[in-house]
Amino acid sequence: MPTGVISVRPLTPDSVSALLTAARSLLDAFGSATHPGLLARVPDVAAALDDDLRHACRPADLFVLRGLPVDDAALGPTPLHWSRAGDAGSLYDVVLLLISTVMGTPIAWPGQQDGRFVHNIVPSPGHEEEQTGAGSSVLLSPHTEDAFHPGRAQLLVLGCLRNHDAIATTAASIRRARLDPADVETLSRPVLPILPDDAYAEAQAYGGAPPPVPTLWPAPDGPALRFDPAYTPLEEAPEEHRAAYRRLEDELSRVSVSVSLAPGEVLVIDNDLVVHGRVPFRARYDGTDRWLKRASVRAGHRARPPAERSEHGYGQAVVEASA
Ligand SMILES: [Fe+2]
Repeated sequence: MPTGVISVRPLTPDSVSALLTAARSLLDAFGSATHPGLLARVPDVAAALDDDLRHACRPADLFVLRGLPVDDAALGPTPLHWSRAGDAGSLYDVVLLLISTVMGTPIAWPGQQDGRFVHNIVPSPGHEEEQTGAGSSVLLSPHTEDAFHPGRAQLLVLGCLRNHDAIATTAASIRRARLDPADVETLSRPVLPILPDDAYAEAQAYGGAPPPVPTLWPAPDGPALRFDPAYTPLEEAPEEHRAAYRRLEDELSRVSVSVSLAPGEVLVIDNDLVVHGRVPFRARYDGTDRWLKRASVRAGHRARPPAERSEHGYGQAVVEASA
């Protein structure tokens, strides 16, 4: 159940029924949520969805869509690794693709989760201490999704299929943070790079020099951020910069809210404004673990700093669903 200041937007029964009917008929026609033909059909099907759904998906820092049913027994066991998910829970892959397409254009990374547009986030044996979706026993530090890359998502869509232990996702909006203007200025300078995370082995081997990027940037509608402390070599920065970065971290933790998603709830995060993380938990590895589906979306509603266009992105290309 979401707590704190997160707005919950209930989907109408008609919207839920239209989404499920559309998703089922796409799956019936193409057999798999990863079929290129299905991906090509999604924009037209999404365009025909109702205005109530469109209204529920209007932009905000952070919101939860509620009302999708999940039949836990019919879902099957939580996979032990994303690579073993196959078509498990694929109805929700298509539902997430439809919702994402109402808001923008889903994107995928050839170097992550086999280039799928909807990822499976499940704890995996041997990865407990990783700062990725496969981790569990350590705090997943608040971060911008795919912060290392100029083509990162503008919106992050997390759909919950299972969460028996009510494991909380954390979210903190830069718009709620109070920062000293001098710190804002310091952190707006491109001083440190953000390195590719452990989900991108190929990008980590890229030979080009890591470009320094600003942590904060002035979007037309207010401050925005690009933040991933676990992959930022903070020790390379001058002391003044490190101190400002730490104050930003403290402020983000002060305004952080916890969201224990229930099955069927979909958390939508503005990836330019809100950093997200996850509390530590003990994985069960018995088929009943927390299971999220994740889509990344390009929405184009806010221009990014022009300097990002010259970044190499560590050799990683972004693929758009409608391309
Ligand atoms: Fe993340």
